[in-house]
Amino acid sequence: MPSTSLLISEEQIQNRIRELADQINEDYTSEILDVLCILKGALFFSADLIRRLTVPVRIHFIQLGSYGSSTESSGTVSFHFSSSSELKDRHVLIVEDILDTGITFEFLLEHLKVLNPASLKSCVLLNKRSRRKIDVKPDYTGFEIQDQFVVGYGLDFNELYRNLPYVAVLNL
Ligand code: IMP
Ligand code: MG
Repeated sequence: MPSTSLLISEEQIQNRIRELADQINEDYTSEILDVLCILKGALFFSADLIRRLTVPVRIHFIQLGSYGSSTESSGTVSFHFSSSSELKDRHVLIVEDILDTGITFEFLLEHLKVLNPASLKSCVLLNKRSRRKIDVKPDYTGFEIQDQFVVGYGLDFNELYRNLPYVAVLNL
């Protein structure tokens, strides 16, 4: 297995999540929030973030992927969503692990907009801005990172490394 080098520690992640949650709590004070966790990558991020929210939340899951077994986006996005009809007139917050080229995110936004949510915002743990092919911007960002392939805290390489409690660079 390729080795990894620590990039963002467990403590840094948790501290930042506390700040993001504070901001979200402030922004949605009088609303019920429908959190949409993008599986599998946002599993731990959304679980930690949601538990810091004090606004009332409903939790939804969606699984999509554009990655085969490489480190480059394939450009085609697959989609599996169980509760689409429930988002009409709701305040939806997408929780994503990482924003890279933006292809996956743009695809998701287009599919959610037609469901007519009352509002649609996004929260990503990691933002690789330099890699963007489509100009999309998250409303809440955990960390800006350089163009390097990272794993851990939900992020995988060939389905491995998701269980690391921190974010690390994969030494390929
Ligand atoms: P995009 O469509 O290029 O923006 O890719 C977004 C998806 O690619 C994310 O949801 C991740 O699943 C995956 N991805 C992008 N960069 C990385 C990385 O550095 N490590 C692990 N997965 C990544
Ligand atoms: Mg992913």
